[in-house]
Amino acid sequence: MSVSTAIGPDQIAAIRADLPALARRVHDDVPAVYLDAAASTPRAKPVIEAVRAFDEQFPANVHRATHQMASEATEAFEAARADVARFISAAAPGEVVFTRGTTEAINLFANTWGASSLQAGDEVLITALEHHANIVPWQLLAQRTGCVLSVIDCEDDGSIDTERALSCFSDRTRLLSVTWISNALGTIVDIEPLIAHARSRGITTLVDAAQAVGHRPVDVRALGADAIAFSGHKMFGPTGIGCLWAHGELLDSLPPWQGGGEMIDTVSFDGSTWNTPPWRFEAGTPNISGAIGLGAAVRWLEHIGMDAVAAHDLAVTGDLARRLSGIDRVRLVGTPTHRSGAVSFVVDGIHPADCGMLLDRHGIAVRTGHHCAEPIMRRMGVSGTVRASTGCFTSVDDIDRIEQALTRVIEVFG
Ligand code: ALA
Repeated sequence: MSVSTAIGPDQIAAIRADLPALARRVHDDVPAVYLDAAASTPRAKPVIEAVRAFDEQFPANVHRATHQMASEATEAFEAARADVARFISAAAPGEVVFTRGTTEAINLFANTWGASSLQAGDEVLITALEHHANIVPWQLLAQRTGCVLSVIDCEDDGSIDTERALSCFSDRTRLLSVTWISNALGTIVDIEPLIAHARSRGITTLVDAAQAVGHRPVDVRALGADAIAFSGHKMFGPTGIGCLWAHGELLDSLPPWQGGGEMIDTVSFDGSTWNTPPWRFEAGTPNISGAIGLGAAVRWLEHIGMDAVAAHDLAVTGDLARRLSGIDRVRLVGTPTHRSGAVSFVVDGIHPADCGMLLDRHGIAVRTGHHCAEPIMRRMGVSGTVRASTGCFTSVDDIDRIEQALTRVIEVFG
């Protein structure tokens, strides 16, 4: 069986050759099939090389000393910020704040914009699909400010109906904070009309783009959201690095969150003044090598072309969903029409954890459990699923292998 993709077999082979982890053999010398990209993508060679160059050649701190290695580190760090800004079509590099990842980016937004803007009774509107990272920061803020979490329910297929979503806005809605692509089910949320509606009512918008940025072209200016959050390790970059993008005017207006070096302008015992964004939000020594690696990841993705990545992603995930749903005793959890990157399923009579472990013996790497999204698991009537997740490197052979392995697991276990 074949999928129609905008990335041809030769290009897939070239992409895979750039991802050394895909050549791994696991257990009894079984070639690994990596279907856990929603948790972490394999690292691209140029990323590994960029990080190694920093570690070996100029492992100095940034924005501090005047020696050559420090200048090289600062230049590479800020060039990475410019790479990321170009990749998401930000108006300026200064709109990109480096964080530890999506989770820290959302917490940063909650503790700056949220803490300074939300009052008791104000509503933060999210969807039933959210990752814990877009639920818990708002619950923590609710304890401090009295703001309220309001949830747009999903449909039984795991999709978000636009009309239902629009009807959930109220006079007290102050923030729409919404996932673009569900990490647990793969649902693509049609966020554009929700953002447009929010804007027309003066409501601030934040997008959890963790599963989107490495899978489709992102143009933050066209999107119209006020802020987006994403992670390096889901787009072939290192772990421990991610970004909060917010448009310049908004970022300028935000108070600091964490205090320390770099985020200040002046400090005295009587008080301190703040640096300009993005450095106002980057207290302490940042993850310099992570940022440099992320810059390399962005350039690698640009070289492939994000339109091609998106076309491949839609085709390959659709094919995966069709093939898995065709296996006896397999039930997909979430069957949205628009899906990217992930397929969740349960197998009648086999616990997801057992299924994941047995697939692993066949060399198939998947994630099992609640995927840090317990509410959507509960909404779908399951405690957890097996999730196979894809990327621009996923091949037809990968899909053949999971189809065969799952069929075999069911035969043997059942
Ligand atoms: N959020 C990551 C996942 O979906 C870790 O697996």
